[in-house]
Amino acid sequence: MELMDVINARRSVRAYKPDAVEKSKIEKIIAAAVQAPTGMNQQPWVFGVIQDAAVLDDYSERTRQFLLSKVGEWEWLAGYADYFANPEFNVFYHAPALVVIYAKNASPLATTDCTLAAENMMLAACELGLGSCWIGFSAFVLNTPEVKRELGIPEGYVAVAPIIVGYPAGPIPAPEKNPPEVMYWK
Ligand SMILES: Cc1cc2nc3c(=O)[nH]c(=O)nc-3n(C[C@H](O)[C@H](O)[C@H](O)COP(=O)(O)O)c2cc1C
Repeated sequence: MELMDVINARRSVRAYKPDAVEKSKIEKIIAAAVQAPTGMNQQPWVFGVIQDAAVLDDYSERTRQFLLSKVGEWEWLAGYADYFANPEFNVFYHAPALVVIYAKNASPLATTDCTLAAENMMLAACELGLGSCWIGFSAFVLNTPEVKRELGIPEGYVAVAPIIVGYPAGPIPAPEKNPPEVMYWK
């Protein structure tokens, strides 16, 4: 696909076939991620990949429980209360793979760099016929000292972009994008 076609075609996918994603494809999307620009060329990232469904289910459940406990406290979660109250809700939508982009430090520069890497990764996934979705909800649990210990991630690293990938099942909703508001063009 042409680049602009990929940019226009990428959409968050929340329904996946159970088929595993080939290791070579995961390697390709990570290779695309590290081509992103970075402040001072620091390339301040590491990656983690989880393809074990039991591990994904476990982190999903811990995320669901955590967010459910915050529903009354964090106003912005109110609209999601029913999802989190449902024990069947899987925050990773049963995707067969999760790729997490970690910043090696919590600086705004490093976390911004990781978001650029994430978009490269999602575009590359689209080009390869894979769906993807950034699962920001999962970052709370991925960033707990307990989970970092479980995954061998140093305390100072930050899970910035948890991206699920897999083969889309069914039609992919394409939310309307607002036209750009150009506020100056001198
Ligand atoms: C920082 C960030 C966090 C997100 N977190 C979630 C999430 O936790 N769960 C989810 O289903 N989608 C999540 N999304 C996907 C957005 O809902 C989605 O990008 C948005 O609705 C626009 O749709 P599109 O990606 O199809 O263009 C997240 C996206 C971003 C950029």
